[in-house]
Amino acid sequence: MKKQDLLAAFAAKFNGEKGAVYASPGRINLIGEHTDYNGGFVFPGAVEQGIMAVIRPNGTDTVRAYSMDLDDYAEWAVNDAKGPEATCFRFVYGVARELIERGVEVKGFNTVFAGDVPLGAGMSSSAALESCFAYGLNDLFHGSVTRWDMVLAGQATEHKYIGCNCGIMDQFASVFGQAGKLMRLDCRSREFEYFPFDPKGYKLVLVNSCVKHELAGSPYNDRRRSCENVVAAIQALHPERKIETLRDCTWEDLEAVKGTCSAEDIKRAKYVLGEKDRVLAVCDALNRGDYEEVGKQMYLTHEGLSKDYEVSCEELDFLNDIAKECGVTGSRIMGGGFGGCTINLVKDELYDAFVKRAVEAFEAKYHVTPKIIDVVIGDGSRKID
Ligand code: GLA
Repeated sequence: MKKQDLLAAFAAKFNGEKGAVYASPGRINLIGEHTDYNGGFVFPGAVEQGIMAVIRPNGTDTVRAYSMDLDDYAEWAVNDAKGPEATCFRFVYGVARELIERGVEVKGFNTVFAGDVPLGAGMSSSAALESCFAYGLNDLFHGSVTRWDMVLAGQATEHKYIGCNCGIMDQFASVFGQAGKLMRLDCRSREFEYFPFDPKGYKLVLVNSCVKHELAGSPYNDRRRSCENVVAAIQALHPERKIETLRDCTWEDLEAVKGTCSAEDIKRAKYVLGEKDRVLAVCDALNRGDYEEVGKQMYLTHEGLSKDYEVSCEELDFLNDIAKECGVTGSRIMGGGFGGCTINLVKDELYDAFVKRAVEAFEAKYHVTPKIIDVVIGDGSRKID
C-alpha cells in the first residue's frame, strides 16, 4: 500500500486537505494459540502488511470516514451512543470511544484508510485497524495514553462494539511489534521480551486457504466459554486456591473434573494445557537453535487445534497434510482458526517444491488458488513521515 495513493484519496475526498499518516501491522504467531485469554504465553510478531490511515481533526464533533478497500463512506458523531453500522467503521468508532474513556479528548476528524493485510486470513486485520486509530488519534488529539492503553482500547472495542471476546495477542503484536523480532508475551503478567528471529536455513511462509473466517459471533466465543466452564469447576473443587484461568490449572485438576464438565469442555481444556507446555518447549528449542523441535511442536499444535479444540476446517487440514508430505519442518493453523492461513517453517531447499505442490494440490482439490505470503517481521504502530 502506498502512502501517496492514500494521501491522494484523502485530498480527493476532503477538498484537497492533507492529513497525518499512521500505520499499524497485522501479525503472525509462531506458537501459543488460544492461550492469550487463558492467561498463557504467545509468540507473535508484526508483519509488513497492515493498515494505513490519513487522519485530520476537522474542528467539529463529527467523524467522516472513507474505507478505500470497501469503497464505503460513513459519518457519525463522536459521542453517538450507537455509532455506525458497517463493521469497518465500528472499529474506528469503538477505538475513539475507548480512548475518550481513557482520557484522550477525541473530537471530530476526517479519515481515509486502506490496508494490504488480507481480511479474514487470521493475520489480524481488525487489530491492525484498531491499533492504527488508537495510535493516530492519541497522537493527533494530544493524548498521553501508553502503548498498553492502546492495546486495551483495541481489545475493548472487539468486546464491546464487535462482539468478539478476543484475548490480547493481536492488538499487542500490532502496537508493540519490532522489525526482525518476535515477542514472547506472558498474557497474565503482561511481561514480554523481544526475540530476534532469523532462523538460518529456514523460511516462514503463510499459505492462505482463502477460507474467510469471521470471529465475531462465531464459535470463537464458545471456545472461550468452554475454558471458563472448566476453570469454574476446578475452582469449585478447590476454594482454597485462586484459579483465574487455565494457566492456574494442572493436568491433575483437569482429571478431577472429568465427571463434572462436558466431554467437549474437557477436550478443549486439554488442548490449552498442552499448548501451555508446547510454548515452553518452543522457547527452550529456540534458545538452543533447534528448529526441528520448534517444527515438531507446531505440528502438535495443529493436531490439537484440529482434533481437540476443533477450530480447523477441511482446507487447513489438507494444507497441513501437504506440508507433512513435503517434509516441511513445522506447519499449523495460525490465529483464531475456522479458515485463514497455515504458518509453515520450511527449510530453504524445500521452499520452492513445497509452495508449488501446495498451490497445485489445493487448486486441483478446491478450485481456489491459495495465496503464498512470505513472512517479513516488521514494525508496530507508528506515524509515517
Ligand atoms: C484471535 C484472537 C486472539 C487469539 C487468537 C488465537 O486472533 O483475536 O486474541 O485468541 O485468535 O490464538
